[in-house]
Amino acid sequence: MESKTSDTRVDAGPVPLLDLKPTFAAMRAEVLEAVTRVFDSQHFILGPEGTAFEREIASYVGAEYAVGCASGSDALLLAFMALDIKSGDEVVTSPFTFFATGGSIARLGAKPVFVDIEAGTFNIDASLIEPKISWRTRAICPVHLYGQTADMAAIREVADLHGVPIVEDSAQAIGAEFEGRRTGVLGHMACFSFYPTKNLGGAGDGGMITTDDVELAEKLRILRDHGQRPKYTYRMIGLNSRLDELQAAVLRIKLRYLEAWHARRADIAARYVALFESAGLLGELTPPPTSPNRRHVYNQFIVRVAGGHRDALRDHLRERGVGTEIYYPVPLHLQDCFRSLGHSAGDFPESERAAKETLALPIFTELTPSQQEAVVDRIAEFYKA
Ligand SMILES: Cc1ncc(COP(=O)(O)O)c(C=O)c1O
Repeated sequence: MESKTSDTRVDAGPVPLLDLKPTFAAMRAEVLEAVTRVFDSQHFILGPEGTAFEREIASYVGAEYAVGCASGSDALLLAFMALDIKSGDEVVTSPFTFFATGGSIARLGAKPVFVDIEAGTFNIDASLIEPKISWRTRAICPVHLYGQTADMAAIREVADLHGVPIVEDSAQAIGAEFEGRRTGVLGHMACFSFYPTKNLGGAGDGGMITTDDVELAEKLRILRDHGQRPKYTYRMIGLNSRLDELQAAVLRIKLRYLEAWHARRADIAARYVALFESAGLLGELTPPPTSPNRRHVYNQFIVRVAGGHRDALRDHLRERGVGTEIYYPVPLHLQDCFRSLGHSAGDFPESERAAKETLALPIFTELTPSQQEAVVDRIAEFYKA
């Protein structure tokens, strides 16, 4: 029991938003052994580690096929390319997301057609999708933001009605579930990111697309390798976007820990809520909503800060050594690069409100109870001042 003493201190020192070092320390030998195995093989691209990792991810999410690629952004690009999305086409998505969701659509010359988000989950509001469907719509791309799925039943209903495929942006949500099924099988294709800050993060960039459709899987494999099949024969214009063997080897080790890490994150999230409650903060901060038919994997722990105090609270926490972040301060429809879409402030009010009111608090698998208490203590201090 002696270790409890340090866990009940509220003065836990600075608390970073994210600290990956202790997680690595616990698996150092295994990771280095895997990396050594790849170096010894001198097989770096499209080899046995990547193939095994694809099989393991397919099995983890419950999909038939998984195709590795160089990043989550490329996963989106490749998925849209596999659907032949091009100039003049439209893809319905959320403006409150990381840039790559809209960027990958626009990179193909297609138009991101934005639909506002739900105030609670920050995910696309399925009830607003239908009026945005046109004869040009080639896909709906819901983003499972922060680690919680969008309302996939309602999205599937409208997609099926109009015969439009769904491409899940599951970059932040590997392992998240909707009605007992994991992201990766909730649409026609799903895109994952292994960027180091993700719940399953590599030692660099990496991505994956999952699907149950054999033809799409085959096309994705060709597209990620320049479009060649067989070698030096190009039937389509693809990318150089392969998941390399070093990344795959590291990610295979980490995948074994993923469920335990998800459980840790869920405990941390529940603890934050309990601490907010006992500090009387629930009127000021709204924690992420939970739902019995969804499993949130808390890639981020996001609170909504009432009363226009978000930025002042963030400054207060920064001065006291608590790391926070804003995901994302400017929705895509207000970004300069999308000016040609003709949007202006007020077009997507919930997205704009979320951009002003949300704050990411520290969450990572080795975050200690005393660090969490320190975070909440410093938040409480802000409201007492
Ligand atoms: C919602 C979302 N989509 C796409 C991406 C792109 O993934 P990557 O950084 O691996 O290119 C990210 C990653 O940050 C993301 O959060």
